[in-house]
Amino acid sequence: MQEEQRTFIAVKPDGVKRGLVGEIIKRFENRGFKLIALKMIDVTPEMAEKHYAEHKGKPFYERLIRYIQSGPIVAMVWKGYDVIAGTRQIMGATGPLDAQVGTIRADFALVKEYNIVHGSDCVESAEREINIYFDEKEIFDEYENMAEIVIEDLG
Ligand code: RTP
Ligand code: MG
Repeated sequence: MQEEQRTFIAVKPDGVKRGLVGEIIKRFENRGFKLIALKMIDVTPEMAEKHYAEHKGKPFYERLIRYIQSGPIVAMVWKGYDVIAGTRQIMGATGPLDAQVGTIRADFALVKEYNIVHGSDCVESAEREINIYFDEKEIFDEYENMAEIVIEDLG
């Protein structure tokens, strides 16, 4: 059974610096997922620590906290059926050599540590991460698909 979900996606600083924002958005739009919030921001130390709390103590933690603050990110919320698994499928595994060819990370990431894009890994982390980066009033949850509007208006 498919489930309608929301997920937090970020183009990380390396993705922004490499001019991959449009490429990444395009792949999620092509799949049919709905973009419901988007902004460019500098991640604060507080945001970084909250976001990556689960990784505290791991060998890559300090580098990860520096990396996510090394330039602006493009923070987004996407909505759709099974959007959490679907966006992670499109992103690919964490490291480019583990990711399937055709995924964002296989196609663009240089190394596991700098892997272009972030996506929440379950419903609980999605809602937690959305709350770190967005106020609910910044989320445009209810607009209709243009095809539906045309059918209603002209059909
Ligand atoms: P993400 O959270 O960014 O969507 O990535 P993920 O679920 O595929 O990977 P996760 O295990 O949550 O790791 C978060 C980020 O930390 C960096 N990392 N480095 N050196 C390493 O072994 C290592 N492992 C993870 C990556 O930037 C990864 O996306
Ligand atoms: Mg993760």
